[in-house]
Amino acid sequence: MSEQLVINGGNPLKGHINIAGAKNSALPLLAATLMTEEPVVLENIPLLDDVSTMLSMIKGLGKQITQLEPSKVRITGPIKINRAPEELVRKMRASFLVLAPLLGTVGEAEVPLPGGCNIGTRPVDLHLNGLSELGTEITQTDGKIIAHANELLGADIFLDYPSVGTTEQLLMGAVKASGKTTIYNGAQEPEVRDLVHFLQQLGANIEVNGSVLTVEGTTKLTGGTYKVLPDRIAAGTYMVAVGSTGGNVVLNDVRPSTLKQLTSKLRNAGIEVNEQKDTIEVISESRPRSLEVITLPYPGFPTDLQAPITTFLALANGKSVVKETVFDSRFGHVAELRKMGADISVPNSSTLFINGKKNLRGTKVSATDIRAGASLVVAGLAATGQTVISGTEHIDRGYSNLVDNFQRLNADLDRLHA
Ligand code: EPZ
Repeated sequence: MSEQLVINGGNPLKGHINIAGAKNSALPLLAATLMTEEPVVLENIPLLDDVSTMLSMIKGLGKQITQLEPSKVRITGPIKINRAPEELVRKMRASFLVLAPLLGTVGEAEVPLPGGCNIGTRPVDLHLNGLSELGTEITQTDGKIIAHANELLGADIFLDYPSVGTTEQLLMGAVKASGKTTIYNGAQEPEVRDLVHFLQQLGANIEVNGSVLTVEGTTKLTGGTYKVLPDRIAAGTYMVAVGSTGGNVVLNDVRPSTLKQLTSKLRNAGIEVNEQKDTIEVISESRPRSLEVITLPYPGFPTDLQAPITTFLALANGKSVVKETVFDSRFGHVAELRKMGADISVPNSSTLFINGKKNLRGTKVSATDIRAGASLVVAGLAATGQTVISGTEHIDRGYSNLVDNFQRLNADLDRLHA
């Protein structure tokens, strides 16, 4: 059954919503539960299709899962199978993160190579090179990785790029390796730090100093309870939405320190952003000013907010430039925004020139990936007339309670079962 989002645009967003736990933290944390047989309770788990996929993955590997509450799961027991189901890895790239936990726990793993997706080729060479440096024998046969390690051995690893998934993968490998591992040029995203804090709580010996992560291998990990950090990308998407439609919104259960880059950009565009301990208020009373945005690894501007901020700039007063440096083709939203009247040119594969317009026009558009879909929702909320968005399955992978949240914020938006 294909679903669509139907939006009658033009309402300023008003009210307050609670932000759920971070998808990009919950997924590696769930993979990491494979590293201990003791009971682990994860709280503030977001209700997302990707989380369901990862829960199916670790259940398929033998873990016992109890849903204690909608956002609270208990995971325990030994791994019983070391082969990751192909259909799940194909469906969601992050399931590749079970590789190191399997290697460090049962000494071997068979994991299909994750497919590319709509935002680029997304190879896993850095993952595999790092695991080889930790003493893993890796072979590839018909699209599968067969990995074997009698014992993972600590090593000094220099990442060519501060890859989030690679840092998480090698961190989990290093925790189970004998001896000391140092990862240089590691990713510094808050979600990576969340994984570090979780593993430390289970007894892992990890020190982080900027982009350098040092791990003393630990054979046995305990269990524990851990709360997933708030989703800064979901929060940032709602902040950009208020900037695009106008209005006054308070986001609860957020961590303002993880949104500094976006907050700074929105303030430069003339949007008022007030930060408290775990809330952010966004007030937008006039047309935003244009900006230059370049996406970079953390603490730079997040690539996952590039599509949403492109919509915001399509409505800003003046000419803006957006540079996408993290992924090699993450402009799937541009053609759809053009259908709504956006004036965007693509001088090269990593740059957008945007001439802001006063209005976008509602029309039929389709989502090509999670964040492109979110950028179309923002566009529909701000546009004049009705926007019908297909491909909602992409949006549901990354945003929990999206329809309910925007309805609470005075938006005229609904889900249609076409
Ligand atoms: C994580 O993906 C996130 N996903 C992405 O969020 C996010 O956009 C990305 O980090 C960057 O912040 C999860 O955490 C589940 P990378 P990941 O490895 O780990 C290249 C979303 O919308 N690369 O930091 O896959 C890669 O091709 C998703 O929520 C290699 O070349 O990102 C890309 O160009 C999208 N070889 C760049 O590095 C490798 O072995 C950054 O990728 C690994 C990565």
